[in-house]
Amino acid sequence: MKPIKFEKIRDILDIKNIDKTFCIRGWVYRTRSSGSIVFSVIRDSTGILQVTIKKGNLPEDEFSSAQKTLIESSVEIEGILKEDKRAPGGYELKVTGYKVINYAEPFPIVKDQSPEFLLDQRHLWIRSQRLTAILKIRSTIVGAIHKFFRERGYYEFDAPILQPNQCEGGSTLFEVKYYDSKTFLSQSWQLYAEAAIFALEKVYNMGPTFRAERSKTSRHLSEFWMAEMEAAWIDLEGLTEIAKEEVRYILNSVSKENTSELEILGRDREKLKSIADKDFPTITYTKAIEILNKKENLNVEWGKDLRTIEENALMQHFDTPVIVTNYPLEIMAFYKPPDPKDPKTALCFDMIATEGYGEIIGGSQRSLDVQYMKKRLLDSGENVENYQWYFDLRKYGSVPHSGYGLGVERVVSWICGIDNIKDSIPFPRTMLRFKP
Ligand code: 4AD
Ligand code: MG
Repeated sequence: MKPIKFEKIRDILDIKNIDKTFCIRGWVYRTRSSGSIVFSVIRDSTGILQVTIKKGNLPEDEFSSAQKTLIESSVEIEGILKEDKRAPGGYELKVTGYKVINYAEPFPIVKDQSPEFLLDQRHLWIRSQRLTAILKIRSTIVGAIHKFFRERGYYEFDAPILQPNQCEGGSTLFEVKYYDSKTFLSQSWQLYAEAAIFALEKVYNMGPTFRAERSKTSRHLSEFWMAEMEAAWIDLEGLTEIAKEEVRYILNSVSKENTSELEILGRDREKLKSIADKDFPTITYTKAIEILNKKENLNVEWGKDLRTIEENALMQHFDTPVIVTNYPLEIMAFYKPPDPKDPKTALCFDMIATEGYGEIIGGSQRSLDVQYMKKRLLDSGENVENYQWYFDLRKYGSVPHSGYGLGVERVVSWICGIDNIKDSIPFPRTMLRFKP
């Protein structure tokens, strides 16, 4: 086989140049041989293509190497494009040249294996069609988030991952040995972003976030990616508008760029698009409790956080994500301020996704009252000395400001229709798993 230009499978299937010779390279996705003919399907990062290798159409030694190639071997193939209604995509290559780059050993992953086995084999399983589709959509989502904020004049701002403070409660901190002392892995970028707004006004970031979650749910990871924003001069209402716009922007990007991936995942593209076209309602926590107790016949006490079952019951009443504001102050983090119009509640919100995917965004206006925040921290057993630097931010030109964090894996799970959040990240870390 002469070294010619290699085409991507999707380009071949898009252009459909019948009877033309093409070269492709990739991995054997399926293969079966019967006597003088081998039928294989080859995959590359863009798609799959059937190849038919017939004795006599290519050199004898190349034919016999095709006969003994197992799935996941890497190969370079030359062939002539033909129409074949039975082939995936409707086309196949009639092979005239076949070169094996690496003969794969028998692949450990076969049909119907347990989820735990597949997680042990994650380094191999990420090449599956399903995970490849999810990873492509994840890449679109990450790209869309960067684009969304940059188009609106936000600066990307980086905070340390090793942090001396908690942001979202001490119980989920990961402690790290730091020379002869100790520190923690970041629970949120927020406190540092609050320092940045005095220089940059509008900042965003997407980075690894760590929570020692003791719960084994389908929504919690110990290491996840959070896309956060923080902006000066913005109140709760302005904040929720940005959040809605961001989620619609993400939905539009995926429905534009990932048609074939959504199809592989069996996800209805039109449905995603129609959500993006609608306005998302905003209700208060108190109203949500009313819906749950009156329309769902639940008995939820005012003051309790909404659990998965309550969020799911609430979402029976909506076909778009919903913004829930004004959660009870007492169960909120120390930096969320009371609403002057309803001081039992905080100037905060969660965005809850449709179809039982739960909270995808959490955010708030930020308290400007140092005494209030000190008290909240003391009440939860924190050493307020460690927050002196944060309180300084309220002393030198303090301004109203707000921000939120979007859980990247929660959004990937929702958009892809994934049952368990573990499949929304390449190598999941949970309470029970930190390998491979
Ligand atoms: O609601 P959270 O805890 O908010 C914060 O951390 C704020 N400091 C953000 C901010 O205002 N800058 O987390 C934000 C989002 C949640 O809505 C959820 O989508 C996701 O992060 N999240 C998780 N995702 C996966 N696994 C976990 N254990 C998660 N914990 C939170
Ligand atoms: Mg939250």
